Amino acid sequence: MKLTPYYDDPLFDYKQYWQARQYENRADQLALKRLLSLTPQAKKLIDIGVGFGRLTRCYHRHAAACTLVDPSQKMLDQTRQNCRRQKNLTLVKAFVENLPFPEASFDTAIMVRTFHHLKEPERALAEVARVLKPQGYLILEFANKIHFKAQLRAWLQGTVGRLHTLKPAPVGQERQTKVPFLNYHPQHVIRLLKKHRFQIIQTLSVSNFRNPICKKLLPLSFLLFLEKISQKPYAAFWPGPSIFILAKKADN
Ligand SMILES: C[S@@+](CC[C@H](N)C(=O)[O-])C[C@H]1O[C@@H](n2cnc3c(N)ncnc32)[C@H](O)[C@@H]1O
Repeated sequence: MKLTPYYDDPLFDYKQYWQARQYENRADQLALKRLLSLTPQAKKLIDIGVGFGRLTRCYHRHAAACTLVDPSQKMLDQTRQNCRRQKNLTLVKAFVENLPFPEASFDTAIMVRTFHHLKEPERALAEVARVLKPQGYLILEFANKIHFKAQLRAWLQGTVGRLHTLKPAPVGQERQTKVPFLNYHPQHVIRLLKKHRFQIIQTLSVSNFRNPICKKLLPLSFLLFLEKISQKPYAAFWPGPSIFILAKKADN
């Protein structure tokens, strides 16, 4: 596989991208910790598409050993630097579509903000299922095609029918970055997970108040309070731009 030089581009600073997104960062952390709390302590955990290690603090104590995978050398170097105090981490350069681990290597897999870059999501899920133990857990985040603003736009433009197809929707960034950026219909992802023999345990709607006006007018602590109380109930109708799913692999 070949990585489009986006995360490796010296002109792109992914860490800086998060500096103006404290609300979304904390909302992701909240969701990840919430779903992890529903899983048993792991012997071996894998984070696929680890980036610069933004989320390692949420899970490194939840496992005896954590394997952090990314195809970008720049991201792995930044993770090594950022996470040097966390001693149970091993970094591996690889693509999710071709993981260099034997079957049933891990109890828990995490994949946050990586799914939207995948051209072959089915191949990726098959690979994640292969390296997970029977009854292992997957926490998967994906970009939501039918979030509140997309629904509103579709109503105004009379394109609701198109929005509700299961076809992934490319977003604007794709044209500038030449990297796949795809938004998924939650039903599509749930079907793919079930096809790979995952049972859905819990779904969360995340970054529900990602809106420039809310972010400007409301203090971060209040936004996070709203986020905390909305993630679970909002999952019934998926208004958030980001969806987290906790899924459990079948017995065999
Ligand atoms: C948006 S970043 C997310 C990083 C991290 N999970 C987070 O939430 O901060 C996406 C990451 O996925 C990695 N990535 C892209 N394509 C991948 C693939 N096919 N397999 C595994 N990782 C991939 C990128 O190198 C990048 O580090």
